[in-house]
Amino acid sequence: MSLPRFSGSFCGLNFRVWLVVCLTLLCVLSVYRYISDLNGRLDVLISSRVKLEKAVTKLQLDSIDISRRHLSFADEQHYERESDREDDMVLVYNRVPKTGSTSFAGIAYELCTENHFHVIHMNISRNQRTLGLSDQMRFITNITGWDEKKPAIYHGHVAFIDFSRFGMQKLPIYINMVREPLERLISYYYFVRYGDDFKPFLKRRKAGDHESFDECVARDGEDCDPENLWVQIPYFCGHHADCWEPGNQWALEEAKRNVLHHYLVVGVTEELRDFLAVLEATLPRFFRGATALYSEGHKSHLRKTAKKVPPKPQTIEKIQESTIWKMENDFYEFVLDHFHYIKHLTFEMQDGEVVEKERKFQFEKIRPR
Ligand SMILES: *[C@@H]1O[C@H](CO)[C@@H](O)[C@H](O)[C@H]1NC(C)=O
Ligand SMILES: *[C@@H]1O[C@H](CO)[C@@H](O)[C@H](O)[C@H]1NC(C)=O
Repeated sequence: MSLPRFSGSFCGLNFRVWLVVCLTLLCVLSVYRYISDLNGRLDVLISSRVKLEKAVTKLQLDSIDISRRHLSFADEQHYERESDREDDMVLVYNRVPKTGSTSFAGIAYELCTENHFHVIHMNISRNQRTLGLSDQMRFITNITGWDEKKPAIYHGHVAFIDFSRFGMQKLPIYINMVREPLERLISYYYFVRYGDDFKPFLKRRKAGDHESFDECVARDGEDCDPENLWVQIPYFCGHHADCWEPGNQWALEEAKRNVLHHYLVVGVTEELRDFLAVLEATLPRFFRGATALYSEGHKSHLRKTAKKVPPKPQTIEKIQESTIWKMENDFYEFVLDHFHYIKHLTFEMQDGEVVEKERKFQFEKIRPR
């Protein structure tokens, strides 16, 4: 009988069995401790992995941001390159007084910072509308050569100058606006008497004169003489003596020719928004955002004559009998028709909305490859 001390039983179980049970328990316990230890380490590992992932994600996001920045920068550069040829563009807006030109210029001034171009006013001494030949040469030489200010819009009350006669390689682009001639004259008539809300404190030339346009017409006054209607034709006709002779038939024809051959587009005051839309579609380098700006109704650039009495029917009738009104109106309607045609060519209706027409041309058969 060897190992008698280990023999025997406890609770009905053999001691050896107990030994095995205890050892197994110990084993399980230590394995459990080991595993829980491992788990703890695993937790640490997992949490550090999460941290790492977060860091990496952040890094990736940063790099995306950076790449985005790079992308947009590249885009900008691309855009800059694309618009290089537009970047030396010069627009000339030889604005006619009382046609809403202050509103239009105001929009240009509001857009110039964001769209990166210059707007420059041409102040012509003593309100002359024509320039001497040497001044015309100075003007064209300056605006085509003043690179720091390009691209630019020059605006001023000056009659059309045919720049093609001055030997310049790159000519400016002309734009302008006209207004129904009698409306324009009445607006001017009251403007020189009462001023406007734009510069309310400026004393106007005829301030203190309270005669209405109707009264003036009834007594055949000087300020409402139909000859005063002769403004838009000479502005578009230009620097030729006949242009400034009221009622000159050649001047009317010349003004029409210049509109067709020398102006990119001439809008009408009555449809200023559409004029801006055409410009925005055609010259986005300058006019991106113009229609939105106009629709927002920024009152700041809307200028209104302080007092304006609508004319009586007999006044309108009397003015419309004059040859000068007929000719100026002929010119206005010519411009209006042309503008409507340009609008029709540029835009179309889609689901009740006016949208720019799709690009209708493409290049192909480009050789050599
Ligand atoms: C144009 O210049 C004249 C004289 O230099 C000045 O009195 C006038 O205020 C200027 N006009 C504008 C619109 O700045
Ligand atoms: C154009 O005129 C402005 C103002 O007078 C002047 O500063 C500028 O140097 C001129 N530029 C050219 C190219 O003549």
